[in-house]
Amino acid sequence: MRALCWDGVDKLSVQQVDEPRIVNDQDAVVKVLMSAACGSDLHLVDGYIPGMRAGDVLGHEFIAEVVEVGPGVRERKVGERVVVCSFIACGRCAHCRRGETSLCDNGNPDWGLTSALWGETAGGCFGYSHLMGGWAGSHAEYVRVPYADQGLFPVPDEVSTTRALFASDAAPTGWMGADLAGTSPGDVVAVWGAGGVGQMAARAAMLLGAERVVVVDSVPERLAQVRDHVGAETLDADAVDVQDALRELTGGRGPDVCIEAVGMEASGIGRGIRPLAAYDWVKQQLRLQTDRPTAVREAITACRKGGSVFVLGVFGGVVDKFPLGAVMGKGLTLRAAQQHGHRYIPMLLERMASGELTTEHLATHPMPLEDGARGYELFKHKRDGCVRPVFVL
Ligand SMILES: NC(=O)c1ccc[n+]([C@@H]2O[C@H](COP(=O)([O-])OP(=O)(O)OC[C@H]3O[C@@H](n4cnc5c(N)ncnc54)[C@H](O)[C@@H]3O)[C@@H](O)[C@H]2O)c1
Ligand SMILES: [Zn+2]
Ligand SMILES: [Zn+2]
Repeated sequence: MRALCWDGVDKLSVQQVDEPRIVNDQDAVVKVLMSAACGSDLHLVDGYIPGMRAGDVLGHEFIAEVVEVGPGVRERKVGERVVVCSFIACGRCAHCRRGETSLCDNGNPDWGLTSALWGETAGGCFGYSHLMGGWAGSHAEYVRVPYADQGLFPVPDEVSTTRALFASDAAPTGWMGADLAGTSPGDVVAVWGAGGVGQMAARAAMLLGAERVVVVDSVPERLAQVRDHVGAETLDADAVDVQDALRELTGGRGPDVCIEAVGMEASGIGRGIRPLAAYDWVKQQLRLQTDRPTAVREAITACRKGGSVFVLGVFGGVVDKFPLGAVMGKGLTLRAAQQHGHRYIPMLLERMASGELTTEHLATHPMPLEDGARGYELFKHKRDGCVRPVFVL
């Protein structure tokens, strides 16, 4: 079958690889209908996440049709159109029972690497390096899905394939950030990053009752999407001082909830000389730090006393000039997680069916798999208004 593979250095190309097959009783094999590239994939292609091997298939945000189920699969049937959660969860371990499904003890068979780095094994994710299990990704014609009863979610007929696609990753990630940050009616919520994840976090905050939701970025097409399709306010970091603007619209206090949806490749967008942003960039290029925490720092600085900061952006290692004093001194709650999609996807599909949650505008660049390398280039450089390239199979 055809799959978009990484060459072990920095290139992507379509290769012929073996078709997946049922390995365990609880597996399904699905035929991919659409697979989107996510900001997390850029961190892989740009070489900031270790554990990738030449020939690995990328992709974890996808919608598919079930073509084969193992004898232990009880709920899912051949022929169903399903959203696949980007994280792999068994549904039975202690973490799954607590709803922390991206931490599943059984989702990641590669035990050594992440426990050496982080003190514990992380969960597993499709197409996300051998750090996260080494599972083949969704930029391919077929994918093997372990724990099919847990990870496959039938899509209501009235929800289009393009809308449902984002219930796999961007929408549950954004919802989790707004939810676990404790967004409450009346809150002011600020979101850093107007990509798919930031937009979905902003929409979730609105649906959870926030009084004002403001998204910070500097890419005009993305800020326009936030206003036109999400219905939130925007701040162009190239045009205003973000810290001042956020204080102004909160009576001098700062937002109640600050959600970071940028990640380890944050840029030092904004007015004036940004010495800490430049410092982050230089240190990362010299490989003296793994991640650029620029937007996390900004979220912590902006947050009101006693407020809550949630980090949705992916980080892999250690960072420098982290404002721990502000976290302590302002009494902040700081949380982060990979997405626990299993607990949110059915609810998100219902909201998609009712029209409360629309996502199809994120699919700015539908294209065949063969155009994958071009799609990733447009996405990486945010060219031509690209928010997500979507491979239509
Ligand atoms: N927690 C999870 O489970 C999970 C799931 C999906 C994605 N992610 C992560 O979320 C992050 C966002 O994903 P995406 O798909 O929306 O990515 P994206 O690349 O489409 O969007 C990132 C946006 O951040 C903006 N940005 C860069 N620096 C900024 C700064 N200093 N301040 C404000 N905005 C800034 C960029 O202009 C861009 O619009 C990535 O790090 C991705 O890895 C996490
Ligand atoms: Zn993702
Ligand atoms: Zn589990």
